[in-house]
Amino acid sequence: MDFLDPRVAQLAPYVPGEQPKTKDFIKLNTNESAYPPAPGVAQAVTQAAANLQLYADPTCQSLRQALGDYLQVPAEQVFVGNGSDEVLAFCFQGLMGHGVAFPDITYGFYSVFAQLYGLKAQVMPLREDLTIDLADYQDCEGTIIFANPNAPTSLGLPAEAILQLVAANPKRLVIVDEAYVAFGGQSMVPYVKDHANLLVVGTFSKSWQLAGARLGYAVAQPALIAELNRVKFSFNPYSVNGMTMAAGQAALADIDYHQACLEKTLASRKWTAQALADLGFDVLPSATNFLFVKHPEISGAQLYPALKERKILVRWFDKARIKDYLRITIGTQAEMAQLLAALRELVD
Ligand SMILES: Cc1ncc(COP(=O)(O)O)c(C=O)c1O
Repeated sequence: MDFLDPRVAQLAPYVPGEQPKTKDFIKLNTNESAYPPAPGVAQAVTQAAANLQLYADPTCQSLRQALGDYLQVPAEQVFVGNGSDEVLAFCFQGLMGHGVAFPDITYGFYSVFAQLYGLKAQVMPLREDLTIDLADYQDCEGTIIFANPNAPTSLGLPAEAILQLVAANPKRLVIVDEAYVAFGGQSMVPYVKDHANLLVVGTFSKSWQLAGARLGYAVAQPALIAELNRVKFSFNPYSVNGMTMAAGQAALADIDYHQACLEKTLASRKWTAQALADLGFDVLPSATNFLFVKHPEISGAQLYPALKERKILVRWFDKARIKDYLRITIGTQAEMAQLLAALRELVD
């Protein structure tokens, strides 16, 4: 098509995990929470809906205050966006003029955004054991971004190692995507106050039960937050709608529920990891709400469709080095038991 920007024409868009149209699937493919939103969320959303004739607060002040209180940082260090995908997009659009470096195996959107915004990208291979080697990033150019814990590997890096990279590169921005940090990662948020070149991205999609509401955030010093606002206010000042803000605040108001869901997820993860290991799977040590696993005899390419036939959706990536693996979201304990029963049949 003649109208198309050549860069967009060449773009290979991100492929999200399948959202089945029927309810009869056990859905373990997009790392959503297995549990519904906190009980107060629905009422808060209904109340906010009564004001839909008005634009929402473009500064998202009260949500940023509540999130800042939870994260123990001032509201001026908090930015919120329409899912962390949007926050990441603003980072790629506005904070990567000198290029970007990220791991070869990580969240798929990084390479898509780099293409979309025409950035010079350096792709750093993970080590053989699928861990990130931070030493690789000492000499690269531009902004560094990685997920910690990383996806789809589920592996976490210690905060101390990331801090060394941040401290050794004061002139380069380090962005840490902490989508899964609540499930066992070490957060960099406490270090933001001392490091102007550190930006942490987080989401309400995984540990706050709000994937469908689209709410993500960034934590950084006010100068960087101002840059993110410059991009946001040049694009869509109302990118977070009032119902989503209300949902986020209601979720933050119920820490006990948040904690209870986390504990159930961690217990099911432990049970599932052991049960998979007993079936002969190699299970990477997960700091997330999913497991990255492979079996020595049956590949991910074989298991994925066989599970789908049994109405269980997991994620399989047709990508070098990780083709043999499956990424399995931790569902409810009953769902994990059904997964195990199906895998037992397949492995036998
Ligand atoms: C590492 C990582 N970052 C960011 C996201 C985006 O999350 P959301 O846009 O729902 O906040 C995901 C979603 O799966 C992810 O795995």
